Amino acid sequence: MKKVYVTRMLPESALKRLDGEVEWSVNPDDRVLERDELLAAVGDVDGLLPLLTDTIDAELFDAAPKLKVVANYAVGFNNIDVEEATRRGILVTNTPGVLTETTADLTWSLLMAMARRIVEGDKFMRAGKYVGWAPMLLLGSDVYGKTLGIVGIGQIGQAVARRAMGFDMNILYHDKWELPPVAEHLLHADDVSLEELLQGSDFVTLHVPLIPETHHLIGKEQLEMMKQDAYLINASRGPVVDEVALVEALRNGVIKGAALDVFEDEPAMKPGLAELDNVVVVPHLGSASIETRTAMADLAVSNLLDFFAGKQPPTPVNPDVLK
Ligand code: GLV
Ligand code: GLV
Repeated sequence: MKKVYVTRMLPESALKRLDGEVEWSVNPDDRVLERDELLAAVGDVDGLLPLLTDTIDAELFDAAPKLKVVANYAVGFNNIDVEEATRRGILVTNTPGVLTETTADLTWSLLMAMARRIVEGDKFMRAGKYVGWAPMLLLGSDVYGKTLGIVGIGQIGQAVARRAMGFDMNILYHDKWELPPVAEHLLHADDVSLEELLQGSDFVTLHVPLIPETHHLIGKEQLEMMKQDAYLINASRGPVVDEVALVEALRNGVIKGAALDVFEDEPAMKPGLAELDNVVVVPHLGSASIETRTAMADLAVSNLLDFFAGKQPPTPVNPDVLK
């Protein structure tokens, strides 16, 4: 039987599907494995099911001479050296699709919470500061009718755009490719340069993968292009934003606010970020619904089982190694 290692406990119903098909074990502690623990755990495995918090690189492949498949529990795979995996004939898979709508929901939760000061209001109530309705208490910004800038119009970016229709928003988007005209028409969406998007949007939301070209895509210069009363939302990957520049911009009123699900040095935040009132921060919850985390585990398990059964796995990242 093939051996599979799972780096952290996942929804159990999915892992149970491995029973009888492969010999599998899981990190018994609910925490990220230390590097030496991870390297020790993969010595004799044929398959690995890691998280986005595990770095899968040449060193790990050296420690796992039998490894043939890495089924990442995430849509993003910047934690994996895919080029190196491909060179060694190791299949990498991810979990696209199943988390699209859930991540779009979270993006909108962040946007709304920021615009309408929900977190500040909650803190205010709990602190016993509410003495009665007041005309100028915690005034935020309208969302409906505004312009939403979407950087990266992949599956998640499009799901965010669809939700904007209910708020009667106009959309500016930027990507390497264009939506079909009918989608642009339905979504009230225009394909523009990044500069035009930043200059014209009331809310800017990021949905690009982390690759060398998107590292610090939003830095000081880009923040200065944004409207002074605009908001930035990031539920993609932390390093897409220069977080030090963002702290400066928020502190100096260059933009009005930010809402972040991801951080440059996750789990840490850059100094000063947590002290700011005009920022909403949550701990990488994009795909964090019971339904979606279960669906992601199911998809990762299907990728492993199909690979070992000699079938085409549903969501390969480097399908060329299967040829
Ligand atoms: C989460 O961030 C993912 O990439 O699935
Ligand atoms: C990115 O992963 C996307 O689907 O937009």
